[in-house]
Amino acid sequence: MPHYNSGTRGNKVPLMRNPQSILITGASSGIGEALALDYAAPGVFLALTGRDAARTESVAAACRAKGATVLAATVDAADAPEMEAFLDRAHAERPLDLVVANAGISAGTGGKGESGEQARRILRVNVEGVVNTVAPAVERMLAKPRPGRAPADRGQIAIVASLAAFRGFPGAPAYCASKAAVKVWGEGLRGELHHHGIGVTVICPGYVRTRMTEGNKFKMPLIMNAERAVRIIRRGLARNRARVGFPWRLHFMVQLIAALPPGWTDPLFRRLPKKAAG
Ligand SMILES: NC(=O)c1ccc[n+]([C@@H]2O[C@H](COP(=O)([O-])OP(=O)(O)OC[C@H]3O[C@@H](n4cnc5c(N)ncnc54)[C@H](OP(=O)(O)O)[C@@H]3O)[C@@H](O)[C@H]2O)c1
Repeated sequence: MPHYNSGTRGNKVPLMRNPQSILITGASSGIGEALALDYAAPGVFLALTGRDAARTESVAAACRAKGATVLAATVDAADAPEMEAFLDRAHAERPLDLVVANAGISAGTGGKGESGEQARRILRVNVEGVVNTVAPAVERMLAKPRPGRAPADRGQIAIVASLAAFRGFPGAPAYCASKAAVKVWGEGLRGELHHHGIGVTVICPGYVRTRMTEGNKFKMPLIMNAERAVRIIRRGLARNRARVGFPWRLHFMVQLIAALPPGWTDPLFRRLPKKAAG
């Protein structure tokens, strides 16, 4: 039986405490890998994707060793038919409780501007890749209630955005734009899907120690390891939070900065270090 807390105006919002069938994109590394390993347990079904076959399979093997049943595949999230086919396979194997659209790439300007090619590549993976994951998942969740769950509890979607979604940073314009797009898309979806019994949570991490950040030559304030990030994310997902932004001090700061007129903060942002180009 699902657990419920009271939503606004007496609506019941399911608490997604114990997902048993979970799809995670970008599970071959970093946050996705740490999430997969943390959810892996006997009785749990995990559908995992990455691009690197060896790393994806090694994460799958580690999850199987923890007792989970795993379907793993190398799937390009930016390829809509490929993503839909994988979702279909996973959902047919065990109707999905939780889908985490996590796969993403990043690159910056290195202070030399950003090419159109790089901007398009980032937007394709980080925006289209998320849409390619979430849209078919929602269709399947809406199609029929999951066995053993109340009709008002059709599943949960988690979209991994970033604290970079709150303001365009000169060092990584397309990356910030991509994260802003999926953050806002997720917020809208949440309101829409609430009435259909689907929870949507937007995850906005600050700096996390992963392949994505290992090449950064600048100081990354309040950086944390992926295991700590996963604890925060899982807590937020279990409470069906609208947004999981962390660490809270950085989350607070970016919200404050975003509330100021951009012209006031431009001089500060121009001086910030720039991430290297991809
Ligand atoms: N690390 C941070 O500080 C931080 C902060 C805020 C938000 N995030 C977000 O968190 C998410 C995970 O990033 P991470 O830090 O864990 O980085 P990561 O270690 O580089 O992992 C990224 C994952 O995404 C996969 N991926 C990339 N492009 C893909 C594509 N086209 N199709 C399918 N999978 C693809 C990668 O697969 P392969 O490795 O197999 O290529 C990898 O599994 C990203 O969306 C990122 O933007 C990260």
